[in-house]
This record gives sequence, C-alpha cells and structure tokens, in this order.
Amino acid sequence: MSIDWALIRLKATAEYLQLVEEIKPVQGFLLDLQGYTLMLLAEEGPGAGSIVEIGSFMGKSTCWLARGAKRAQREKVYAIDPFTGSPEHQSGGICEVSVIAEDGSTFPMFEQNIRALGVLEQVVPIVARSEDAARDWHGPIRLLFIDGDHSYEASKLDFDLWSPFVVPGGIIVFHDIGEWEGVTRFYNEHVITDPRYKQLLNLYSMCVVVKSAS
Ligand SMILES: C[S@@+](CC[C@H](N)C(=O)[O-])C[C@H]1O[C@@H](n2cnc3c(N)ncnc32)[C@H](O)[C@@H]1O
Repeated sequence: MSIDWALIRLKATAEYLQLVEEIKPVQGFLLDLQGYTLMLLAEEGPGAGSIVEIGSFMGKSTCWLARGAKRAQREKVYAIDPFTGSPEHQSGGICEVSVIAEDGSTFPMFEQNIRALGVLEQVVPIVARSEDAARDWHGPIRLLFIDGDHSYEASKLDFDLWSPFVVPGGIIVFHDIGEWEGVTRFYNEHVITDPRYKQLLNLYSMCVVVKSAS
C-alpha cells in the first residue's frame, strides 16, 4: 500500500475529469476515454514524426490529440478532412448533421473549437480528402488516427496510402471497429492478420496498433 500511489491516481482522475469538461462542448463521435487515450498517445507515444488525423469533423479528436502534443511540446497535428461530412452525415443520412445540411461544411465550427480549446497553433488543417492530401505528403508520422470515411474501400485506401509513412515502432489508431461494417471488415482482414502490426488496445471500438520496429 502506498499513499503516494493513491495520490498519483487521484491526480490523474481529476485531470481527466477536468479535460472532459473542457472538451465536452465540441460536438463529435468520440467517447471521453477514447479522447483521453488519443491525448496520452500524443503526449507520451513512441517515435518522432508528425501526428496525422484523417477525419476531423468538428475537431473533438483533434483537440484531444493537440492538447497532448502541446503539453509535451511535441509535433503538430495535421487534421485532414474536406469538412463536408461522410455519406451518413448528409441530409437524410443515418447520422444527419444539421450544420452540414445548412452550411455544407464543418470547418467554421472546427476552427472555432480548436481556437476555444487553445490549440490553434498546434494544429495544421488540411482541407482535402485523405487520398488527395497523401499525394503531397512527405515526412515521417509517429501517430496516425484513421477516422474518415468508414467504408471498406475508403478505410483500405487510407491505410494503404498513409501507413507507409508511419515510422517503425509508431502507432496507428482506428475508430469504430465493431461499430461500422466496412472499417471493421477491413481491420479484421488486413490489420489484425498482418504480422507487422500488433494490437495494443481495443477500447470500446477504438483499436490501437503498433507498427513493428524492424
Ligand atoms: C466520424 S467523422 C470524424 C469524427 C472526429 N474524428 C471526431 O472526433 O468527432 C468522419 C469525418 O471524415 C471525413 N471524411 C469523409 N471522407 C473523407 C476522406 N476521404 N478523407 C478525409 N476525411 C474524410 C468527414 O468529412 C467527417 O468529418
């Protein structure tokens, strides 16, 4: 038994609850604990290189990632999204988003949110589809978060185009595994079975894998 250990755990819990309160106003598709996981990976994760997010929407995951990177004075977060929503977010879609139906873009809300959360300078938005952004990308990535179009084909394209940039020992995070058919099938067929990747965590549909160091 150690009171010091109890105090460390209490401090971490209080910090978590404080961050959840701050980021709560940002609309998005992420559980609090998943956001906290992204923050810890951005702050403490292995390797050196950029942090790249595919699918930023209104910036919820971006804020968590950027908070972590900022605290550790580490790399910028490149937030890639055309900001026009996925098929399910459009008018009449199963997750219709009013701001997309009305304004056609989540970018103004995204920008407002990253400013309000104090991470404007930590984030580099790239207003493009991931497949277009990949053509101009160069440089190592130490943390890749894939949360764009969840169809099988788009998930495969995101992975095929971006995973080669991930450094050995770097991390790739997938969202909505087990929730969306396309990305789940892709993950089970191509990632879990690939000896170069090892799953570290499956947290309520967020799967974290590490790329082999060799
Ligand atoms: C599920 S939302 C992302 C949620 C966000 N990560 C959060 O924390 O709330 C999916 C996003 O992917 C974007 N998207 C769809 N197709 C894309 C593509 N080809 N490249 C990049 N982003 C894409 C959509 O515009 C949408 O904002």
